[in-house]
Amino acid sequence: MTFKRLFSALLMVACIMVANASSDAKMDQFIDNLMARMTLQEKIGQLNLPVTGDIITGSSVSGNVVGKIEKGQVGGLFNMKGVTNIRALQEIAVKKSRLGIPLIFGMDVIHGYETVFPIPFALSMSWDMEAIRNSARIASVEATADGICWTFSPMVDICREPRWGRMSEGNGEDPYLGSEICRAMIEGYQGNNLADRTTMMSCVKHFALYGAPEAGRDYNTVDMSRLRMFNEYFPPYKAGVEAGAGSYMTSFNTIDYIPATGNRWLLTEVLRDKWGFDGFVVTDYTAISEMINHGMGDLQTVSALALNAGTDMDMVADGFLGTLEKSLAEGKVNMAAIDQACRRILEAKYKLGLFDDPYRYLDPKRAKKEIYTDAHRAEARRIATETFVLLKNDDHVLPLKREGKIALVGPLANTRANMPGTWSVAAASDRYSTLLEAMQRATAGKAEVMYAKGCNVCYDEELEKNSTMFGREMRDPRDATVMRDEAVRLAQQCDVIVAAMGEPSEMSGESSSRSRLTILDAQKDLLEALKKTGKPIVLLNFSGRATVMDWEVENLSTILNVWFGGSEAADAICDVVFGDVAPSGKLSATMPRNEGQIPIYYNHLNTGRPNPKWFTKFTTNYLDVPNDPLFPFGYGLSYTTFSYSPLTLSSNAMTTTGSITASVTVTNTGSCAGAEVVQLYIRDMVGSIARPVQELKDFARIQLQPGESRTVTFTITPDKLKFYNAQLDYVLEPGDFEVMVGTDSQHVQRLPFTVR
Ligand code: BGC
Repeated sequence: MTFKRLFSALLMVACIMVANASSDAKMDQFIDNLMARMTLQEKIGQLNLPVTGDIITGSSVSGNVVGKIEKGQVGGLFNMKGVTNIRALQEIAVKKSRLGIPLIFGMDVIHGYETVFPIPFALSMSWDMEAIRNSARIASVEATADGICWTFSPMVDICREPRWGRMSEGNGEDPYLGSEICRAMIEGYQGNNLADRTTMMSCVKHFALYGAPEAGRDYNTVDMSRLRMFNEYFPPYKAGVEAGAGSYMTSFNTIDYIPATGNRWLLTEVLRDKWGFDGFVVTDYTAISEMINHGMGDLQTVSALALNAGTDMDMVADGFLGTLEKSLAEGKVNMAAIDQACRRILEAKYKLGLFDDPYRYLDPKRAKKEIYTDAHRAEARRIATETFVLLKNDDHVLPLKREGKIALVGPLANTRANMPGTWSVAAASDRYSTLLEAMQRATAGKAEVMYAKGCNVCYDEELEKNSTMFGREMRDPRDATVMRDEAVRLAQQCDVIVAAMGEPSEMSGESSSRSRLTILDAQKDLLEALKKTGKPIVLLNFSGRATVMDWEVENLSTILNVWFGGSEAADAICDVVFGDVAPSGKLSATMPRNEGQIPIYYNHLNTGRPNPKWFTKFTTNYLDVPNDPLFPFGYGLSYTTFSYSPLTLSSNAMTTTGSITASVTVTNTGSCAGAEVVQLYIRDMVGSIARPVQELKDFARIQLQPGESRTVTFTITPDKLKFYNAQLDYVLEPGDFEVMVGTDSQHVQRLPFTVR
């Protein structure tokens, strides 16, 4: 860089800093003036977040919301859909409450709005940060067009626990990938100006460690070492602070035996003092009152505990509203803590531009024009194709030709409401296609698609009912044998069978833990019967978590995991099934052979008796199952093939402040275009604490035409080698390292290097 360019760059940074400082000063002055006029009750009112509207995400509902808004007892509302409804409530706040402070309107816009993107777990399989950023950007455009300025996303809980249904909402098991995705989502939602009418405030959740519940049971106890927190589970939350997330949501679980919502170490010492977060912290749904069940005291005690810990806003529990005044009088909280929480919420409203114009996000014209547009849908469809993971394609049954007769069977083949997946609260499912409709469109005039449901989700009616809540019921009253026989007869007349099976969308998500992760009984029986026809079978596995598929992998040649692909899932599945796009998704979570292997994850420690391939006495392994997974982290096939040149390093030594590069040339050796995700892992061979056998530290998603080659060069910087040591200092310890580059975590080339 020339001196002149350097000078003008520095000048620009200085100008931005001055501009920010002066806008901060303006904001501070505005809020000082406002708070000087607020009563104690009005300040506490800002800390209150009741729920209203038809979208139910918890077991309590708030009462007399309108009356409370008029009295200045509400800071914001959430999960209400529709600009007209929202505007009516904003008008009450602005016109009828004493100070006219606008409300903030939040919603679980988790993976899109009416244009729904694949569930977050699926999105993470794309390893495509640009696509993920854009999905958040589009979600933001649509949600803000409909009155929402605050989303309860991204959910960044690292998870090695597929029994936990909420694995579907996160980004899998890896802290590096999870951190990259967290950044991309926040950039997509917030852009670089929160006051822009098309951006909304993000809320990183669930802080913290919610993804590690004992036994995979939702809301259950979490207990882990500080080292594991800092090295393996905290990185994505920390990335959220670095990316400028406006808010954080506490988690339901305990951390060191103290519920997150009342945990001062977590919310103040780590989040604010260590990481520098300066936004506001909201609880999860009734998380304050749930501390009574955790055994932390009555509502007054737990509300004071939450405020003193660093919680600013109370979602639905009415704990702050009902008890803080009394706690202040009794000296259990102080005025400074209430003021600080109130200030943080007012600052968020200021940054969103709500004091300039409370109706900023409430323009009915935008709602008509900017939601579920053709352009948004096209992007959702394109992105969905990147999330499907081809697990097996032994006989090259996929892609299917558009010819002959195709039997489409299975409980997920002809359902609309189950396409978008869990946590798509703003979905307009009536407008989405079923797979059957999309397949008929995709083959029109060329092939015949014949459909039979073949079976229900499972034999157990109660289980099916609990897994298809929220109007997504799909049970067929017919006898199981009648349904199965019909599907088998249909399959016999066809050239190929496409089996749309797996979980309905509410079988993952909140409060949807499972102890068995296999394909459900009725579907498995149908698969067995279909296999007897001798026809080729393509299993499309819908799921919000890793599925145990040992039988399927043994018995079927072709398995495509399609997760839940969003509003355009059906068309996107057809794009891949018929070969218009080659699959390119790679697993962001290890797939176990059976439930007993859980937790199974690629970045584990070596142990003192590391495992050989097969059972060996006195080493770490099982008698009845190998240690390795069914499919490893990072795994996924394409319709084409890729070759890797030998890995090279720019040097086999670097200093603690220097860097080296690792390069590999990847060639598309097959006959169709495809994308490959080149992955870089590192192992620290010797450390002051035991270090994982490998850790993802970089990746590149590249698109290659047949015959095309691309050299991918990764830079290994000190930051990629650092970790938290026993004193929780973030350090680089000189010594020997190994770099691994490859197509998944198990298929890698290795080279050693030293840090001096
Ligand atoms: C969930 C959160 C969600 C909140 C608001 C809770 O039940 O745990 O993820 O944001 O409800 O709907």
